Amino acid sequence: MADSKILVIYYSRTGRTRRLAQRLAELLQADIEEMDCPRYRLGFFGWWRYLRAGFDSVKGNLPPAATLKRNPADYDLVLLGTPIWTSYPSLPLRAYLESKPDMPRSIAAFLTYSGQSEPDKAFDMMAEMLGKPIDHCLAIQEEKGELPDMEAKAAHFAKELQNVS
Ligand SMILES: Cc1cc2nc3c(=O)[nH]c(=O)nc-3n(C[C@H](O)[C@H](O)[C@H](O)COP(=O)(O)O)c2cc1C
Repeated sequence: MADSKILVIYYSRTGRTRRLAQRLAELLQADIEEMDCPRYRLGFFGWWRYLRAGFDSVKGNLPPAATLKRNPADYDLVLLGTPIWTSYPSLPLRAYLESKPDMPRSIAAFLTYSGQSEPDKAFDMMAEMLGKPIDHCLAIQEEKGELPDMEAKAAHFAKELQNVS
């Protein structure tokens, strides 16, 4: 683990998954890549884009896949992070996985969600799109916009990942 190269790839619309991703990257001394997706960005049209995110997610309308600066295949372990949208991973992450990027053998996943749905469905879809099981998963349910016990949960997850790759 000491010499393992780790990459955290994530999408976040309103910042919660970003906070978790940044903390995990710090704990694991990992490189980090945020996927941007202009179609659902916050801002003046944020409310409209929120509706569009829900609509597209129900319909399975994928946006263009993000292009990353780093190649996941150059790493020993990749962590994929996303919010849940309509029970499944957010569309930007789904679009990225749909583009079939080269991935290392070891993949972990984390997500944030508000509690209307169970995380298993989202993890299962990620595994299906990757074509292999994801052995290490972390899901944190938000409460009033915050991620309760994020520090302890992130630290525990990072420790679990120390024996991977
Ligand atoms: C379009 C849309 C659909 C969502 N659908 C769900 C859902 O089905 N289940 C759930 O628990 N949370 C759902 N959420 C809530 C997000 O998963 C939650 O707020 C998450 O923490 C947001 O992460 P972010 O701040 O990184 O964007 C949805 C949010 C959006 C924008």
